[in-house]
Amino acid sequence: MENNNYNKENVVLFSEKYNEHYKSITLGINESFLKFVIPSFDYLKKITQVRNNITNNTEQIYIKKLNILDDCFGYGFNTIATIYYTKLNYPNTKISIFSFEKEKEVVTKIKEIKQDLFFFCEKTKYFEDIFPNVTKNIREKTFRETIEIIENLNFHETKNNNNNFYYHEKNKINIKIFIEDLNNINKKIKFKKFDFIYHDPFSIKNNPDAWSENLFKKIQKTTKKNTIITSYSSNSIFRNILRNLKYKIINIDAQGRRKPSTLALKIKIFDKKLKITDKN
Ligand SMILES: C[S@@+](CC[C@H](N)C(=O)[O-])C[C@H]1O[C@@H](n2cnc3c(N)ncnc32)[C@H](O)[C@@H]1O
Repeated sequence: MENNNYNKENVVLFSEKYNEHYKSITLGINESFLKFVIPSFDYLKKITQVRNNITNNTEQIYIKKLNILDDCFGYGFNTIATIYYTKLNYPNTKISIFSFEKEKEVVTKIKEIKQDLFFFCEKTKYFEDIFPNVTKNIREKTFRETIEIIENLNFHETKNNNNNFYYHEKNKINIKIFIEDLNNINKKIKFKKFDFIYHDPFSIKNNPDAWSENLFKKIQKTTKKNTIITSYSSNSIFRNILRNLKYKIINIDAQGRRKPSTLALKIKIFDKKLKITDKN
């Protein structure tokens, strides 16, 4: 990562290389919750309820294990939000998060911005709205524990740098972040099939290598029947690539932005009950 401007108020970094902020400057980490983590869990819950004929949609579901691809790690907000959300809502679920990041130094950036991130979360109404039934103490304790994991990732380094990664393996949480181009995904991930895929590069204009049809064909090899793909983007080129791969597109609330974000699902047999129609 080159010299970045750091917006303390919103805890968002600006990349001069890509000429873009790492996250929405108004939403900060709430973008991770509202556009990636919560929609993915909500749709997993809907699919599970339909499959098991559960009509009471307030009923909690049991999730034994989740494999997640957070495909462009940045400074880890999507991973942080996932661990945090899982600890609070699905404490018995085991999660394995795999990620890619080209810039090794970005991954540890959380150490520098942690205090501001705490402050940001405390003062935003969003954060309280997202976790209304949890006491402030529990919210803060969980957040602290979650960030500690990202802060203390181990680094595995090889002499020729061809297999460098950060990792964490403890209790129910496994994380592996390859310092590698996402386009090499099939070299690094051979047998894993993901339940959730968060697609979170910079925009298609500034980061085109992360939005090609070729890349999505590679990512597709790591999916299964019910994989849920989310992205902040509603770009039509991106959505059409997914449609060509037989996904249906669902709009996710724009959260004050001009355009909705995207959730993509492949399932066919549940379409009617889930009331999914791709008219976007
Ligand atoms: C928009 S930022 C990610 C925001 C991130 N989710 C966060 O919480 O900070 C995009 C990140 O993807 C990385 N990136 C862009 N293209 C990539 C590629 N082809 N392979 C791996 N990483 C890439 C950039 O270095 C940057 O850190």
